[in-house]
Amino acid sequence: MKIESIGVIGAGTMGSGIAQTAAVAGLSVVMIDVTDTALGKGRAAVKSSLERLVSKGKLDAATQEAALGRIETSTDYARLASIDIVIEAATENVELKGRILKQIEAVARPDAIMATNTSSISITSLAAQLAEPSRFLGMHFFNPVPMMPLVEIIRGLQTSDETAAAVHALTERFNKSPIGVRNSPGFVVNRILVPMINEAFFVLQEGVASAAEIDEGMKLGASHPIGPLALADLIGLDVCLSVMDVFLKDFGDPKYRACNLLRELVAAGRLGRKTGRGVFDY
Ligand SMILES: NC(=O)c1ccc[n+]([C@@H]2O[C@H](COP(=O)([O-])OP(=O)(O)OC[C@H]3O[C@@H](n4cnc5c(N)ncnc54)[C@H](O)[C@@H]3O)[C@@H](O)[C@H]2O)c1
Repeated sequence: MKIESIGVIGAGTMGSGIAQTAAVAGLSVVMIDVTDTALGKGRAAVKSSLERLVSKGKLDAATQEAALGRIETSTDYARLASIDIVIEAATENVELKGRILKQIEAVARPDAIMATNTSSISITSLAAQLAEPSRFLGMHFFNPVPMMPLVEIIRGLQTSDETAAAVHALTERFNKSPIGVRNSPGFVVNRILVPMINEAFFVLQEGVASAAEIDEGMKLGASHPIGPLALADLIGLDVCLSVMDVFLKDFGDPKYRACNLLRELVAAGRLGRKTGRGVFDY
C-alpha cells in the first residue's frame, strides 16, 4: 500500500515532530489539535526546528520551505477523510485516546491505517475499541522526533501483517530505523531504560555515590552519552515515576517499585529541566 498523506493528531512535542519528519520525507500532512493556539504553537515548533537544521547545514533551504508548505493545520477531524495513515500523538490518557481513535475511524477511509504514539497504553486494548482493529498498531517515536532515529513498531494481537509491513516501509521513508515489537508494557526501550534510571535513584538514595559521580560512572564506564540522573531531569521525573507505576501495576512484579527519593522529588515539584530543578539545578 502506497502512503502519500498523513494525519497527525496533536500538535504538541511529539505531534509537531512527527508532522515535520513526514513533511521533510515528502508526504502531505494534516495536523489536528483542539485549538488554533495549540496548532500555532505546533507550527512554530516545526518552523524553528527546520531553521535549526538549515543553520547546522543538515537541510537545505528549499527542502525547509517545501516541508513547511506541506503541513496543513485544522481543528476539524473531517479533514482526515482522504488520508492514507493517521498517527495519534495527543495527550497520554487512555479514555481520551479511545475517544480520538473512534473519531478518526468515523471519518477515515475504510482502508486507512491508524497508529498511536502512546508510550504506555496497551496497543491490543486500544485496538479492541475499533471496528477494524487489524489496521491499527503502535508507532512509538522518540523525542526529539526529527533527531532520534528509532521507531518501535508495536503490533497488537489484532494487527495484520500487511499493516505492519506498510508501517515498516513508511518508517524507512522517514529515514528512521524501525524495530518490530510485540505489545507489552513499556515496549523495549522504556522497559529497560526507566528501571535503570529508577535504580540510579536507589543508588543515590543509599548514598553509594553523589549524583554527579553516578552520572560520570555511567558515562565513562558504560559509554552512555548522558548519565541516568541527568536523563531523568530531561525526561521529567514525573514521567519516569508514572512509567514505573504503570510497570508495577501491569506486571504485578515488585521489582518495578519506584524509588522513594524519585517519588519525594516529584511531590516537591522538582520535576527536572522543565521546572528548573530536579536532581540537578538548571
Ligand atoms: N514527550 C515524549 O518524550 C514522548 C515520547 C514518546 C511518546 N510520547 C507520547 O506521545 C504522545 C504525545 O505526547 P507529547 O509529549 O507530544 O504531549 P504534549 O502535551 O506536548 O502534546 C499533546 C497535544 O495533544 C493535544 N490534544 C489533546 N486532546 C486532543 C484531541 N482530542 N484532539 C487533538 N489533539 C488533542 C493537546 O492540545 C496537545 O497539543 C503521548 O501519548 C506520549 O505518551 C511522548
